Amino acid sequence: MRLFVIGQEGQVARSLREVASRSGNIVFGFGARPDLDLLRPASIAKALADFRPDMVVNPAAYTAVDKAESEPDQAFALNRDGARTVAAAAADRGVPVIHLSTDYVFDGKKKQPYSETDTVGPQGVYGRSKLEGELAVAEANPKHIVLRTSWVYAPFGSNFVRTMLRLTAERDRLRVVDDQSGCPTYAPDIAGAIIAIAHKSVGSDWHSKYAGVTNIAGPDVRNHGVGSRRRSFRGPRSGAGALFRLTRSPLPIIPRRRRGRLIPACRAKGWKPCSAIAFDP
Ligand SMILES: NC(=O)c1ccc[n+]([C@@H]2O[C@H](COP(=O)([O-])OP(=O)(O)OC[C@H]3O[C@@H](n4cnc5c(N)ncnc54)[C@H](OP(=O)(O)O)[C@@H]3O)[C@@H](O)[C@H]2O)c1
Repeated sequence: MRLFVIGQEGQVARSLREVASRSGNIVFGFGARPDLDLLRPASIAKALADFRPDMVVNPAAYTAVDKAESEPDQAFALNRDGARTVAAAAADRGVPVIHLSTDYVFDGKKKQPYSETDTVGPQGVYGRSKLEGELAVAEANPKHIVLRTSWVYAPFGSNFVRTMLRLTAERDRLRVVDDQSGCPTYAPDIAGAIIAIAHKSVGSDWHSKYAGVTNIAGPDVRNHGVGSRRRSFRGPRSGAGALFRLTRSPLPIIPRRRRGRLIPACRAKGWKPCSAIAFDP
C-alpha cells in the first residue's frame, strides 16, 4: 500500500513519518513546502502523479487559531481551498483521502462531549474555515474520511503540553485558564489510527459506507487556574465555559497505550455513516 502525506514537520505529519519505518507493508511518501504547497494546486497534482498513492492523508492546515481572526484569507485559502485541492487531486486518481479537522467546528456550548451527529456552529474564522474544508473535501472526493480531533500534542512541535513544560522550568507559579474543557490527543496515536484506517479501508478495498466524519480524541481534561476572560485571548475560545470535548469510543484502537480512541459510528447531519470501519483492537 502506498500512502502519501501532505506535510512533513507538523505534529501529525511528523508522527506519521516516525512510524513510517515500522509500517513494513506501507510505503510512505511525504510532500512539503517548497515542493508541495497547498496554495499551488499544480504542485499537489504533480506530487501525486509522481508517487501514485493508494490513499492520501492531509494533516496540513492553517492552525494559528487566534491569528486566523486577522488573516481570514490565508485561513480559508489553506483550510478550505487547499483541502479541496488535495481531495480533488486524490479523486482524479481514484483514491481516498483522510482529512484532519477539528472540534472548533462546534460552538463549545454543549455540556456533554460532542458527537459526530451534533449540529456544527463554528464561532471563529479558524472553525469556519475548517468546517468549509470538511464540506469541500466531501464534495470533491466521494472517497473521504474526515477525522475530527482536538488539543493535539506531541513530543515535538508547538502544543499546550510543551508550553507548560517550558513554563514550569522558567517560573515558580503558573497562571492557566480554568474555564475550558477539551480532549488532549496524542499525535502519534492519531498516526496509529490513520494507519489502521488505511489498512481497513484501502486494504479491503474502498466501500462507500466508509465515507464520513469520525471523532478521534483522547480523554477529557479541564484546566485549573485563571479564566480565559482574564487573559488576552482574542480567538473563538475566549469567554467562560467553553466546552470543547469530543465523544470517545469504547472501542480502543490503540490498546498499547490507550490514549487515542475512535468513534466507529459517524452520522453527523448530512454525512453518510462510516460505521463500517470497525477497527480491530
Ligand atoms: N494542533 C491542534 O491542537 C489541533 C486540534 C484539532 C485539529 N487539528 C487539525 O489537525 C491537523 C494537524 O494538526 P497539527 O497539529 O499536526 O498541525 P501543525 O503542527 O500546525 O502542522 C501544520 C502543517 O501544515 C503545513 N502547512 C502549512 N501551510 C502549508 C502550505 N501552504 N502548504 C503545505 N503545507 C502547509 C505545515 O508545513 P510546514 O512544516 O512546512 O510549516 C505543517 O506541516 C490540522 O488539520 C489541524 O487543523 C489540530
